Amino acid sequence: MTNERAKFGSRFGLILATAGSAVGLGNIWRFPYMAGNNGGAAFILVYIGCVLLLGIPCMISEFIIGREGASNTARAYTKLSNGTAWKYIGFMGVLTGFLIIGYYAVVAGWCLQYIFASAAGELQGDPKYVAGYFSEFSASPVKPVLWTVAILVITHLVVIRGVRGGIEKASKMFMPTLFVLLLGLVVASCNLPGSGAGVEFLLKPDFSKVDSGVFLGALGQAFYSLSIGMGCICTYASYFSRRTNLLNTAVHISLVDTMVAVLAGLMIFPSAFSVGIAPDSGPSLIFMTLPNVFQQAFTHLPLVGYIVSIVFYVLLSLAALTSLISLHEVCTAFFLEEFRISRLRGATFVTVIACVVGALCSLSLGHTDLQLTIFGKSVFDALDFVTGQILLPFGGFLTCLFLGWYVPKKIVKDQFTNWGTLRGALFGVYLFCVRFVCPICIMLIFLNQFGVI
Ligand code: TRP
Repeated sequence: MTNERAKFGSRFGLILATAGSAVGLGNIWRFPYMAGNNGGAAFILVYIGCVLLLGIPCMISEFIIGREGASNTARAYTKLSNGTAWKYIGFMGVLTGFLIIGYYAVVAGWCLQYIFASAAGELQGDPKYVAGYFSEFSASPVKPVLWTVAILVITHLVVIRGVRGGIEKASKMFMPTLFVLLLGLVVASCNLPGSGAGVEFLLKPDFSKVDSGVFLGALGQAFYSLSIGMGCICTYASYFSRRTNLLNTAVHISLVDTMVAVLAGLMIFPSAFSVGIAPDSGPSLIFMTLPNVFQQAFTHLPLVGYIVSIVFYVLLSLAALTSLISLHEVCTAFFLEEFRISRLRGATFVTVIACVVGALCSLSLGHTDLQLTIFGKSVFDALDFVTGQILLPFGGFLTCLFLGWYVPKKIVKDQFTNWGTLRGALFGVYLFCVRFVCPICIMLIFLNQFGVI
């Protein structure tokens, strides 16, 4: 079984595919805002600290479980746990995957719609009009659902082509395109008059703003941005070869992810500051604030403004798509192996369920009469909350305890050092992080989120 298992074809492809999972909406709509408002370069330093001390060890842990288990997330945890209750972490990961796909696909669908809307010049108008356009569009019953289905079908078409011919190939196309587009937008944005203030806002270190809340915010962001806590990384790692250097790979992926996040800030703040608009975060930043920023920043060069706006939504769609592919693959690999069905069937099953969850999410935003609410929140907000604030940190926490304390140290060390072929000088540091630093810090984020500390 292990020999038959698909593998990524090259190291470059493997890093791009995994980085594709990590680089997503989180990098673009949340990181810049958090950095700008929480001390600029000081926040970025704290963030990098969180990535090094928590993100990378947790990522390596998922790598180890995935490569050792050489199967989908649920089975990988089951194998390593010898059937004890630890196996449920893997099942929880697959479930979390379904829930995240649901709302993530809705937002990705909005990005697709906005490519066409900006190309058709529909986003031109005063701020009130643009905000109204978004509220009306996102609450309408049919269009957003169709876009959600469209992005899921594109994801489906990639996933059914398998690991090498689908996921790896798509990542090799999408990720370099994403970089080029992002760099183009950074250059356009930083050349605007008055853009220096935006660069300063993002990068000027202000250590007085860094308090425990900022620290915990950075931690949560690092987790979400690196796709940790539900088995995305674990599933991809099951396609790694025995020669893949896990530490080195985790460092590369984190570097790419952090670089994209900082570049996203250098794209958003300079243009926003040049026209005096205060940027926010989340959907309102991307779908309400930025269309106006682009419009006003390039009033003298309307064609450039027009192109920048289209390119921006293409960039967002690509970032969201590669993350969706990884989420889809977690669930597809599960059905494929657990029910022994073909990849096509497994993927179809996942796509259909994801379309239903996505449609419910989308409809919950506009149709209060349908009562699509869970605990008083719309399905969309509830899924975002339950996954991001509860299931992901919980999954990461349990994974650290599992790997740090339950899985035999020999297995962990063999994986870390590629069966003794690498020196593994940092193994001790890694193990210390996984055993103590990560669980304690994740616990703190958790308690902080519920206002206990
Ligand atoms: N990391 C992605 C982003 O920054 C989102 C994502 C994809 C994710 N797969 C995940 C988050 C798995 C947590 C777990 O947008």
